[in-house]
Amino acid sequence: MGLAAAGAVGVAGGAAGWVWSAGSPDAGFRPAVSGAPLRDPEVLGSRGGRLHVELTAAAGVRLAGRDTAALGFNGTSPGPTLRVRPGDELSVRLTNRLKQPTNLHTHGLRVSPQGNGDNPFLRIEPGTSFDYLLRIPPGHPAGTFWYHPHHHGMVADQLFGGLAGMLLVDGGPDLPVDRDRVLLVTDTTMDAGGGVAQPGRMDRMRGRQGELVLVNGQHQPSISAAPGTAQRWRIVNGCVSRMLPLRLTGHALDLVALDGAFLPAPASRDRVALAPGNRADVVVRPTAAGRFELVSEASDRGSTGVGGDVRSEPVVLATLLSAGPAAPVAPLPAALPAENPGSATEAQRQVAFTMGMGMGGMTFGIDGRAFDPERDDHSVLFGTTEEWTVTSSTPMAHPFHLHVWPFVVLATSDGAPLSGTPQDVVLVPPRGWVRLRIPFTAHTGRSVFHCHILDHEDAGMMATIQVRR
Ligand code: C2O
Ligand code: CU
Ligand code: CU
Repeated sequence: MGLAAAGAVGVAGGAAGWVWSAGSPDAGFRPAVSGAPLRDPEVLGSRGGRLHVELTAAAGVRLAGRDTAALGFNGTSPGPTLRVRPGDELSVRLTNRLKQPTNLHTHGLRVSPQGNGDNPFLRIEPGTSFDYLLRIPPGHPAGTFWYHPHHHGMVADQLFGGLAGMLLVDGGPDLPVDRDRVLLVTDTTMDAGGGVAQPGRMDRMRGRQGELVLVNGQHQPSISAAPGTAQRWRIVNGCVSRMLPLRLTGHALDLVALDGAFLPAPASRDRVALAPGNRADVVVRPTAAGRFELVSEASDRGSTGVGGDVRSEPVVLATLLSAGPAAPVAPLPAALPAENPGSATEAQRQVAFTMGMGMGGMTFGIDGRAFDPERDDHSVLFGTTEEWTVTSSTPMAHPFHLHVWPFVVLATSDGAPLSGTPQDVVLVPPRGWVRLRIPFTAHTGRSVFHCHILDHEDAGMMATIQVRR
């Protein structure tokens, strides 16, 4: 197998025969570089309990080895990786050099949604700056999170444009690994001139999928790891709509955390499926030399109901290159510091929400209403626990996401395996449901829940929630 095919039309990844894109890259943008060693984004880490960063959102970044008009933070996509610890103060001066309003969301962080915290209702106008202050609670779990813009109506465009970055909370157990890497997966479609393509009406209805799938802004990068060594890969699905059913050829994936929360013990999986917004921390431990592929397998999210299946083709994300004599790997710890999910807690209230589409797929809403930031849709008493049943009334799957207050998935209509640990995105099957237990602890304030197919969120599939004392 060679890298020669990567970047050309059709098949990349050699013998496995994966098609890297459903589109026709020949007609438009071609990656100039494929298969280069995976780079880590720049890391900005806290010291003495503080991290101050300046993030400037603007057009003009290198993607797949080419200068493009895609968007980035501080000139790169992804933006810098922010590393903090529980108890830290993270201050961010966000400067908007885009042509439209934006803002910043720290996806998965259990921080206050109020004021200049993780407030999705803020609107930072072009040419202005805003100072965020995120206080990470002392008891915050260590794990993998990410940041992206959240200005309603423009979220999909801005993420598809390239605005995203990693946010890591340190302080977890020392895993026996030789490298700790981030793999932020995004997709986009570029035109021949290096501009970001605008999706059509049908693409927005399905949720747009980019022709170019990138890892840390690179096309099919390679990752070297000698037999007998171990690496932690923190994988984020930062795509607007694409499902990532992940597999690493020749290996099992040792899953240690999901959505920033450790599992009770490492779980060896053939396949780890990430919906948009989900994260998985896996440990990769090659034992013999070879060339292996991190693949996102074909997926099927159902259909729009008005003609049009919602599928994605298999795609090679990255290549694992392992060279050297075969060697055994060190065992992983038998137990991990999983949070107690509080299974004894009885829910004080049962609540139901329905994610739906109407008017031939042209309207999107929750309980039949499109998002209105001024309206209070759901109000909760701080400190209580609720059991939510979230249904999709459409023939399409929708990844349900709630800010600030993670949930435990109790059951799903398709019987998908349950993590038992807190998570913040769960896929609601086509015409199916999920049942969630949500403890409303740690923070009061007003925030949102929505479909993480961000075209659907931008079209109205989002609602407000107010947690008060
Ligand atoms: Cu990652 Cu409300 O989003
Ligand atoms: Cu979020
Ligand atoms: Cu949706």
